[in-house]
Amino acid sequence: MSSINGRTAVITGAGSGIGQATARRLAAHGCPVALADWNEEGLEETAASISGPVLTRKLDVRDRQGQMAFAADVKTWAPAPIGLVFNNAGVTVLQGVADASPEDDQWVFDVNFHGVVHGVTSFLPILLEQRSGAIVNTSSVFGLVGFPHQSAYCASKFAVRGYTEALRQELRGTGVHAAVVHPGGVKTNIVANARFRADYHGDHADVTSAAREFATLARTTPERAAEIIHEGIEKQKARIRVGPDAVFLDLLVRLAPTRYYDVIDRLEGLVRRGR
Ligand SMILES: NC(=O)c1ccc[n+]([C@@H]2O[C@H](COP(=O)([O-])OP(=O)(O)OC[C@H]3O[C@@H](n4cnc5c(N)ncnc54)[C@H](O)[C@@H]3O)[C@@H](O)[C@H]2O)c1
Repeated sequence: MSSINGRTAVITGAGSGIGQATARRLAAHGCPVALADWNEEGLEETAASISGPVLTRKLDVRDRQGQMAFAADVKTWAPAPIGLVFNNAGVTVLQGVADASPEDDQWVFDVNFHGVVHGVTSFLPILLEQRSGAIVNTSSVFGLVGFPHQSAYCASKFAVRGYTEALRQELRGTGVHAAVVHPGGVKTNIVANARFRADYHGDHADVTSAAREFATLARTTPERAAEIIHEGIEKQKARIRVGPDAVFLDLLVRLAPTRYYDVIDRLEGLVRRGR
């Protein structure tokens, strides 16, 4: 596959965090960018920071018809063949299984999993016709390990991983490549934008407090995440782990497939005592 630099990149969740940084990075590498987010303000902020060709679309990734219409518009607009479809929009909720809100679980699963499926099925025919391009779907380290009070999020991210790995096999010999991204903690608005019922240790009264702690724990900047993702796509990696914590958890789960949380719990205890 040739480099994606200079080819059109489609990115969802481009109004903030990893999507925004990836849009800026790829645009700086000559990619016309087609950006979608349901947050119009964030989307405009991203577009304003980019000097090359940009198409923006206010879009809820749960809306299949909306994604299909977006794909049709991108096909007409794209100044260069599509090099990347980055299905990246995502949300989470902090709540325990025993008293989970079913609506919030559904919201997380719909955005994180069905949003990805709609993005893939809308753009795949274009990439297959081109016989080139990459579909890159954002999972998480929580698509590798289970974390308490993140059950719906983990389920959705394990689902993205399974779906993308199956897709990757289907795409053999087509010229189209599929990859899954597993970020560790990245300093973005993911927790600030979360719905909140209760965190596992009961440390936080609300989402603002949880977001404040997340900002101190997340080590990787969105810009570094974008760099790792860009390099991973260029190398045609099947799995792109973002940040040292993602690499660590990936190794840990292989070494201790059923006991990994014993280790995580101890490490979390050390961090909590060190505060
Ligand atoms: N930040 C992390 O530590 C981390 C770790 C692992 C995985 N991830 C994943 O990375 C991806 C990007 O998240 P981020 O960290 O940049 O968070 P973020 O909140 O900064 O950005 C997510 C973007 O997705 C958009 N979005 C949410 N729901 C949408 C919908 N229904 N339709 C369209 N747009 C929608 C939001 O408006 C926001 O702009 C997500 O899939 C997230 O689950 C993040």
